[in-house]
Amino acid sequence: MALEIQNITKIYKMGQEEVRALRGVSLSIAKNEYVAIMGPSGSGKSTMMNIVGCLDTPTSGEYFFDGEDVSKMDQDQLADIRNRKIGFVFQTFNLLPRSDIFHNVELPLIYGGLSSSKRRELAEAAIERVGLADRIRHKPNELSGGQRQRVAIARALVNNPSIILADEPTGNLDSRTGEEIMGILDGLHQAGNTIILVTHEDDIARHAHRIVRLRDGLIESDERVGAMVAQ
Ligand SMILES: Nc1ncnc2c1ncn2[C@@H]1O[C@H](COP(=O)(O)OP(=O)(O)OP(=O)(O)O)[C@@H](O)[C@H]1O
Ligand SMILES: [Mg+2]
Repeated sequence: MALEIQNITKIYKMGQEEVRALRGVSLSIAKNEYVAIMGPSGSGKSTMMNIVGCLDTPTSGEYFFDGEDVSKMDQDQLADIRNRKIGFVFQTFNLLPRSDIFHNVELPLIYGGLSSSKRRELAEAAIERVGLADRIRHKPNELSGGQRQRVAIARALVNNPSIILADEPTGNLDSRTGEEIMGILDGLHQAGNTIILVTHEDDIARHAHRIVRLRDGLIESDERVGAMVAQ
């Protein structure tokens, strides 16, 4: 099992108000699954992804990642897991604007303490994999949206993570560019990666093999779907 969450809740306290973003969610995801998380705005998708990605901790419930009990870990331990085992792709790319592509992709390896020659080798390979070798010294603002998202994918996969989490990776892209990005995620899945992505779009969700729908902080449905996209 890649990860297992059991009866997770997340309550945000806003002054006197409480927002119950997750109200008891349980989910197991096996290695090499390709899962789409869907559901209306505010249903808890990003909250769940942040917990799954060890960016945030649940209010209650258990979380096992790669067999380790994450729900009891402190901030340093969570950062370590994130850095070694999780690759993130966000809707807004989250690249460093003043750094070139190479440095953006190399960054997780700097946190990981790798030597500069090893970093160069791995970052170049990741950039090559997303088809941007000829742009390696460009800055993010010199790239198209689709190219920026490819940089973010290269950054996500550079340290060979156990899972790749993508929160609306095509949300800011036109549908053709979005399909290109999904083609890259499909390839990573075929190469053995575990992928969890959030999307509002049926056409994007169809790339996954399992669709989990959230509503009001609860899982409404969890279905396996055939590989509906022609390979
Ligand atoms: N940091 C926060 N503080 C307070 N409330 C929050 C916070 N983050 C999210 N929420 C609330 O928790 C609920 C779930 O939010 P979440 O971001 O998980 O929704 P979502 O399903 O990702 O929505 P969208 O499709 O719009 O991205 C919402 O009611 C939201 O307002
Ligand atoms: Mg969201």
